[in-house]
Formats: sequence, C-alpha cells, structure tokens
Amino acid sequence: MAVAQNVIFVTVCSLYLFSFSSSLSTLDLNGAWIVSNEVRGYNVSGSVPGSMYTALLAAGVIQDPYYRRNDETYRWIAKEDWNYSRTFTVIPKLMAMKTIVLVCEGLDTVGKVFVNGKVVGKSDNMFVRYTFDVKDLLKIGENIIKVEFQSAVNYAAERSKQYSYTVPPTCPTPQSHGDCHVNMIRKEQCSFSWDWGPSFPTQGIWRDIYIQGYNSAVIRDVTTETMRGSDGLWTLQVAVFFEVTSVLVSGQLRIQLDKTTVLHVSNITISQSNSSHTLTLKIPKEENIMMWWPNGYGNQTLYQLYVYFESKISPEISSKKIKIGFRTVKLNQEYVTQNKSQGREFYFVINGQSIFAKGSNWVPADSFLETVTRARIQNRLQSAKDVHMNMLRVWGGGVYESDEFYEIADELGIMIWQDFMFGCAMYPTDKSFLSSVTSEVLHQIRRLKHHPSIIAYSGNNENEKALRQNWYGTSTNFTRYYNDYIQLYKETLMPVVVNEDSSRPFLPSSPTDGLESESEGWVAQDPGSEYFGDIHDYRYLDPYFDYKVYRIPRFASEYGLQSWCSYETLEPVFAESDMDYWSDLCDYRQHHPFGNFQMMAEALLYMKLPNSSDVKQKFKDLIYITQINQAIAMKTETEHYRRWQNRLDSTGRGHTMGALYWQLDDIWQAPTWASIEYTGKWKMLHYYARHFFAPMLISPIMDGEFLDVYVVVDQVPPQPITNNLTISLHRWDQMGALQNWVVEFKINSTAGSVFRRNVTDLLTKTSCDLPQRCFFYMYLTNTQEPSAWVTLSTFREAIGLQKANIKITNLRTTGEDKIFNLTITTDNFAPFVWIDAYGIKGRFSDNGFLLAQSQKNISFYAWESVTLDRFNSSLSIKSLMDVYYE
Ligand SMILES: *[C@@H]1O[C@H](CO)[C@@H](O)[C@H](O)[C@H]1NC(C)=O
Ligand SMILES: *[C@@H]1O[C@H](CO)[C@@H](O)[C@H](O)[C@H]1NC(C)=O
Ligand SMILES: *[C@@H]1O[C@H](CO)[C@@H](O)[C@H](O)[C@H]1NC(C)=O
Ligand SMILES: *[C@@H]1O[C@H](CO)[C@@H](O)[C@H](O)[C@H]1NC(C)=O
Ligand SMILES: *[C@@H]1O[C@H](CO)[C@@H](O)[C@H](O)[C@H]1NC(C)=O
Ligand SMILES: *[C@@H]1O[C@H](CO)[C@@H](O)[C@H](O)[C@H]1NC(C)=O
Ligand SMILES: *[C@@H]1O[C@H](CO)[C@@H](O)[C@H](O)[C@H]1NC(C)=O
Ligand SMILES: *[C@@H]1O[C@H](CO)[C@@H](O)[C@H](O)[C@H]1NC(C)=O
Ligand SMILES: *[C@@H]1O[C@H](CO)[C@@H](O)[C@H](O)[C@H]1NC(C)=O
Repeated sequence: MAVAQNVIFVTVCSLYLFSFSSSLSTLDLNGAWIVSNEVRGYNVSGSVPGSMYTALLAAGVIQDPYYRRNDETYRWIAKEDWNYSRTFTVIPKLMAMKTIVLVCEGLDTVGKVFVNGKVVGKSDNMFVRYTFDVKDLLKIGENIIKVEFQSAVNYAAERSKQYSYTVPPTCPTPQSHGDCHVNMIRKEQCSFSWDWGPSFPTQGIWRDIYIQGYNSAVIRDVTTETMRGSDGLWTLQVAVFFEVTSVLVSGQLRIQLDKTTVLHVSNITISQSNSSHTLTLKIPKEENIMMWWPNGYGNQTLYQLYVYFESKISPEISSKKIKIGFRTVKLNQEYVTQNKSQGREFYFVINGQSIFAKGSNWVPADSFLETVTRARIQNRLQSAKDVHMNMLRVWGGGVYESDEFYEIADELGIMIWQDFMFGCAMYPTDKSFLSSVTSEVLHQIRRLKHHPSIIAYSGNNENEKALRQNWYGTSTNFTRYYNDYIQLYKETLMPVVVNEDSSRPFLPSSPTDGLESESEGWVAQDPGSEYFGDIHDYRYLDPYFDYKVYRIPRFASEYGLQSWCSYETLEPVFAESDMDYWSDLCDYRQHHPFGNFQMMAEALLYMKLPNSSDVKQKFKDLIYITQINQAIAMKTETEHYRRWQNRLDSTGRGHTMGALYWQLDDIWQAPTWASIEYTGKWKMLHYYARHFFAPMLISPIMDGEFLDVYVVVDQVPPQPITNNLTISLHRWDQMGALQNWVVEFKINSTAGSVFRRNVTDLLTKTSCDLPQRCFFYMYLTNTQEPSAWVTLSTFREAIGLQKANIKITNLRTTGEDKIFNLTITTDNFAPFVWIDAYGIKGRFSDNGFLLAQSQKNISFYAWESVTLDRFNSSLSIKSLMDVYYE
C-alpha cells in the first residue's frame, strides 16, 4: 500500500470499513412498463430501456421492422404519440429521505413526466440526463409514473414551422425513405434515416431510470485527467460533481486507486451553488504506474478509481467507481516546413509516441438501441481489434455511445475520436436549443471524460464543409447560416468543452482544417484541404484499384465504397422473390442514390460480370463481386495512405497519419459501406483490413513502368530491421513461379520502398510474354507472412485464368474450444477465394485471398459453440472464375 504525501495516513483496516457500497436509497424503475396509445387502442407491455417499436414487436402487434418494406408499413407508429407508465412501491425508508429525485439517464426524446398525475418535468433532448425532484409527489405505497412522449417526427415538423426561417436540409433524399427536419430535434440524427439506414424515429426510455433518495449529497459524476511530469511521475486530476440537498453539507471525501492505495482523504463542504470538488493528486512513485497504450503499442492497463463521500449530517455514503488509464494525448498541428503555405501536420501523439491511426467509423449498431447488448459491442470492437485497428470515430449522426462501449474500447485499446452529435445539417440557434445543447455537452463530457480511449472531440460531422460548399442551399444567405454555425459550435459548444475538458484536442468539425479553419473564421475556404486537418473523400466511378486516383491528405477520417451484405444476412428480411440484384426491394433497400448501378459500373472497370442464368445464383455472385470491389478499393486507398506517412511531396502534401474508412458496422441488413454486416459477419473488406492494417505491411504498386514494393511498419524500429523479401513472378495459367527475386532490405523508418525495378526488364527472359498473363506475389522469405500480390492488368483483361478446383481437406478440431483448422488445396491459381460457413457465427483467419500456393492452412474462430459436423456441413468455397459459367 502506498499513500500519497498530501494525505493523512489511513490503515488497511479502515479501508475495509469503506467497502464499496452505497447507503443511498435507490429504486430501480427499469423493467416492465405499459406502452400505450389510447387513441389507437394499443396497450402493451414494453421493457425499459426500450422503445415503442420493440414493445410492439414483443407484443406481437408488429412483425420484424427490418423485414422488406416494414419501415414504410410502420411509418404510422412514429407519427403517433406514445405513453409509458408503470407503478412502483415506495417504502417508508425512502419516503423519509430529505431529497428524492427521479433520475432519467435518457428519455427519447420529447416527453412530459408525471408522478401520480402531476407534472414533474419535461424533456426535449435524448442526450441529456434529467433529474427531477419528486419528493412532494410521492406517497408510501403504490405510486404511478407516466411519461407522455410526443412523436419526434411531428415535433420536428412543428419546430420547423415555428422557426422564423428554414434550417436546411429540410428532408433527406427520397432514396432514404426518411423523415424530415431531424435537425430541429436533439435526437439521434440517423433515426430519421440515412443513406445506409432506415427511418425508425423511436420514442421511449432508452437508458436507465430510477428514483434516488438521500439526506445530504450524492456523487453524480466523476471526471479524471492524467498528466505526466518531466520526472515521469503522474498527476491525476479528479473532479467530483455532487447533487446536494441542504444549504451546506460537510463530509469526508476519499479517493482510492485500486483496492490498495488511498490517494486522498479530506473534509470538504459542498452546497448547491458550490457542488463540485476538484483535486490534483500526485501518484506516488511506488505505484509504478503502467501506461495505457493504443492497440499495437503496448498494454491497456486500467486502474479502478473509487470515490467515496461520507456525509457528517447523517451516516450516509455516496460512492462511485470508474476505470481509468494513465496516458497523455496531443494532436500535433505544427507547420510541416518553414514554408507555411505547405500546411500543418495532423497526427496524434500518445504518451509521446506518434501514432498512425488505423481504423474506421462507428455508427449505431441498431435502429433500436436497446437491442445493442454488451456482447454485441464486445464482438464488434473485438473484430476491430482483430484486424489491427487502433481508432474508431464515433460519428456525429448517431449517439454518444453507452458506457459499455467506451469501457470496452478502453480495454481493447481502440482510440475514440468522438464527434458531438450534429451531422450533415445546419441547426437552429434559438435560446432553448442552445441551452439544451449546453446541458447535453456538459453531461456527456462529465460522463465520458475519464475514458482513456477518447482522444479527441469534434464539433460535428461535415457541417463546416457543407456550409462552405453550399450542400443545402445555404448560399441564399450565407451570413445567416455562418452566424448560426459560429453561435452553435464556437460560442456555445466549444466553451463548454474547453471549460470541462481541456485534456483532449477539440476540433471544430470533421472534416476540418483544424487550426487553419479556426484562423479562417471557423469555416475554411477549403475544409477538405490536403494540407490541413482531416478529409472525407468519396469517389464512386474512379478506377478504385489505382492508387493514383486518391488524394494525399494529412489524415483521412472518412473514405469508402459500398458493397452488399451476404445472402445469409438478407434471408431473414427478404422474400425469395426479392433475391435478385435488380429487384424492387434491392432498389428500395439501397439508400444511396444510384448505389446499385455504381457498384456494377465499378465492378466492370475491374472484372467481368457474373453470368449465371439462375437469378438467385447470380445475386449471390453479384454480392461477392461487390465485396471484391469494396475490399480492393479500401486496400488500395488505405495502403496509399500508409505509404505516405513519412514523405512530403514538393508542395508539402504527405505525412498522412490516419486512415479511418467508412464504415465499420451496420444498423440493418442492406447495401452499405460497412465492413461488418448487421449480424457481425465479416465482409471481404474486413478480412482485407487484417492485411492492410497489419503492423508490418508489404505494399506493392505499379508506378508507371516500375514495380515498387514498399514496406510499412507502425513505429520507427529502435534498431533497423533486416529481412529478406521474395518476389515471384507467376503466370495465371500455370502453378509455380517463373522467376524469383530475393532482396535483403533494412527498415529504419515507418515506410519506404525496398524494391523498385523496371517491369519490362523483369519480364524479359521469362515466359511472361504479356503483362495480362502475370502477377507478382511476394512474402518475407523466412516466415511467408506478411505476403502481398499485384497484378499487371485488371482481372477484366487478365489472360489465362482458369477455373480452380479448390477443396477443403483435413478439417479438424484443434483442441481449443471453438477453433477449427482446415486445409484448402487447389490445382490452379485462384483470386478472391471465399470460404463461407453458412449460419455459423465466427470468422476465418483469412478470406477473400489470392490462393497462390497449392495449399493453405486456415483457422475458423467460432463465436458460439458448434460441433465439427455442423461446421463441416456449413462450409462452401468459391473463387472468381466460379462466377463465370460456360
Ligand atoms: C397519454 O396519456 C394522456 C393522459 O392520460 C392522455 O390524455 C393521452 O391521450 C395519452 N396519449 C396517447 C397517445 O395515448
Ligand atoms: C393497460 O393494461 C394494463 C394492464 O396490463 C391496465 O392496468 C391498464 O388499465 C390498461 N390501460 C388502458 C388504457 O387500457
Ligand atoms: C475530518 O473531520 C474529522 C471530524 O469531523 C476529524 O476527525 C478528521 O481529522 C478530519 N480529517 C481531516 C483530513 O481533516
Ligand atoms: C504488459 O503487461 C504484461 C503483463 O502484465 C507485462 O509483463 C509487460 O511487461 C507489459 N508490457 C509493457 C510494454 O508494459
Ligand atoms: C439573411 O439573414 C439575415 C439574418 O442573419 C436577415 O437579417 C436577412 O434578412 C436575411 N436575408 C435574406 C435575403 O433572407
Ligand atoms: C537474407 O538472405 C541472405 C542470402 O541468403 C542471407 O545471407 C541473410 O542472412 C538473409 N537475411 C535475413 C535477415 O534472413
Ligand atoms: C535508412 O536506410 C536508407 C537505405 O539504407 C538510408 O539511405 C537512410 O540514410 C537510412 N536512414 C536512417 C535514418 O538511418
Ligand atoms: C524499362 O525498360 C525498358 C526495356 O529495357 C526500356 O525500354 C524502358 O525505357 C524502361 N523504362 C524506364 C522508365 O526506364
Ligand atoms: C491450427 O492452425 C493454427 C494457425 O495456422 C496453428 O497455429 C495451430 O497449431 C493449428 N492447430 C492444430 C491443432 O492443428
């Protein structure tokens, strides 16, 4: 046990006296409520946290909302108001408390709360925690609580009508099949639809609700900040936010790190007007603090922090425990060169280590947030970690995620770039809206600040760019919308952020030019500049397999291409007759204008289209083709960004230090940009991410007439790494290598070319007479991994590719629970080999690969118990040539 200097000595015995318990009286109101609409005659049981949709589904009133066009069929539900009510019993002990409050951690959204028929308060923001005084309305025995929600869609429309001018965009594009004016309500913005998700504008109690009684004070929030001194010692700043009942409450505040170390004990006095207490604590050297590191850079050491307050007024203890991590974060935005016109850097530095951000963007994992269990979040974030991601951006059109989400991100070392929840819109700036935003930001920062995973905040998603580029017709009165922008983000939101949490960088928007945007009045002339900040970049009809089409930014925080999710994932929500790429439902499900056409046009640039005469088979093949498109595009673009991390071109472009593709997860079963399907199944892209984000990447490109092979690593090696790379030339029509080149290379930086040769020269004296016939395959000579390949033409032009007879052999259990091994063999080279375990949740060690050896070993990691027999019968395998029928 170690005791900080500024603290009185406390014996081990007394630590146990304050074991983690709370003597406050709390009455949990989660569980079964009645969800009703008297006008329509609905009266069903619904669980809280939850929404009216899941209540109606559980009661059998509606079918799966995701089935076919049910989002349209059930549109009426969102246009109705819904009441939530239940009874609860108050015991004398609770009733005797001096203060009794109703705490609503999340009301969705516009509601009036009644206790025993009397109004206790109102809500209009789903991101605010509401605390209402209910002492005078309660009675011993049975009480009734009722929340009357108003249709979010109707409310937003009313607010829009009342507002003195139009706040665009008014409605989503018709292809989104969505609802209008979502920017007028402080609610999950994508709940009115998005280009990858349906409109289900929920109403309900979406987070915990409880009644709490106390006589003195209760700890509502605890925030922390960690700072490292030049002596290597850590300082921990802890702020404790109380809710206080009487004029003055004094008591003992005590802070403990893990079970063993008392960091602080003091007597404090708090009051309603002075209800927080901030401490700066030096962590004793003997604690030997282990730092928290992002995935791939070290351990994710976490410490439990206990905060207790024991009031003197009455023997009452309020306590809170949180997990914290010790790390520092900095965003480097220095000028890249002396010549300021060459722009600024933009990269994160954690614990003094520059980090190339590898990852994706997170959207809500379901339209019905109550169904997003801890297990589901754990699975999705583990899948991110499994492919070497270290950062996810929690995108501003969704929600501030649950505590569990950030806890798991802390544990897995996934850094979080946290947007504030404003996206793709202008917003109102009337007094009540701004004050609601202030409460929201205050609450969310106090809830989230202690998480080491969160490394940046940004004000909104794409609104700076939208305003500058007139996406929504704001140029009719730019000044008006500009002033609104400034008022909301610069004058309202930022001061709260900076005041509450200056320990992390705050960015005005994403994308933004960062400091440059700020100096240009917060709306930069070119918010998508390659020389400043982050970019969002989408290109749908460019040759996505050619790295030259991509930009050279400092940080790419969004870029992506669509694909269809698997047939298996669609089956529960599509009818047989919908299983046709060109069916009405496939069109309906596609919210991105012309998305299905784009994917076909893209495929045609690279491959021939499947030609099965069976409609269903052809749909399966087309799904596979769109997944190839997406995987190759993201591979090409991401590797391009990674290759540019330590170089500048003559104009100052380069030093790219982030690649977060759009998007990680799916809100439902549809064609989207996601790499993980709604069910958790990995698309081909996700398997590709495991390679293109690998700690060591071999990245070959065809640079004009040259084959140029780069090696990219995450950190500058402390000692140069020497290794041998084998590069082999192959003909598609014959297994085996025509020629091998072995190069010994030395890595002394994060990215560099290790082999650059004129291809014409390489091909001479080989039997590769035409580039279309051949490809290069390369690997580390000793380990075979990592490996990479590059073709000398597209697959559309390739000559000599033959159908491969690929077999699964030697399927075996490994002795490890839920892991199966198998070997696949082939008689021909096979591009894009796809092994599928139909109906089994889990993932392969590799998939979608170019099979360049006659055999390859693969593992399958099941996420559920499954027998060898069942696994065996679920398996199928295909590769590119299988989609072309004679
Ligand atoms: C909700 O409850 C109130 C008060 O009982 C009632 O007036 C209103 O009609 C109810 N709304 C619906 C949609 O049932
Ligand atoms: C709804 O059902 C509950 C029982 O589940 C009942 O107590 C209540 O009176 C019903 N409300 C209406 C408006 O029918
Ligand atoms: C706090 O107050 C108690 C008595 O109320 C006293 O015994 C104790 O020494 C005080 N502790 C500190 C750290 O001042
Ligand atoms: C990570 O944690 C393990 C187990 O606690 C420890 O042995 C190792 O030294 C730690 N590594 C670093 C880099 O801190
Ligand atoms: C533009 O907005 C300003 C308020 O910022 C308003 O006074 C003015 O009338 C608007 N102009 C037009 C043409 O709508
Ligand atoms: C690379 O290959 C050369 C020649 O075979 C060998 O001498 C050298 O030790 C190898 N280097 C490594 C790092 O394996
Ligand atoms: C890294 O290696 C390259 C090629 O061997 C060499 O030109 C360069 O000077 C080295 N850089 C450092 C920092 O050692
Ligand atoms: C590549 O090699 C060929 C054949 O030796 C030669 O004609 C061509 O000029 C070379 N290209 C470049 C860019 O050096
Ligand atoms: C299964 O495959 C993995 C990865 O190739 C390998 O490490 C492991 O030893 C294999 N286990 C068995 C029992 O074959």
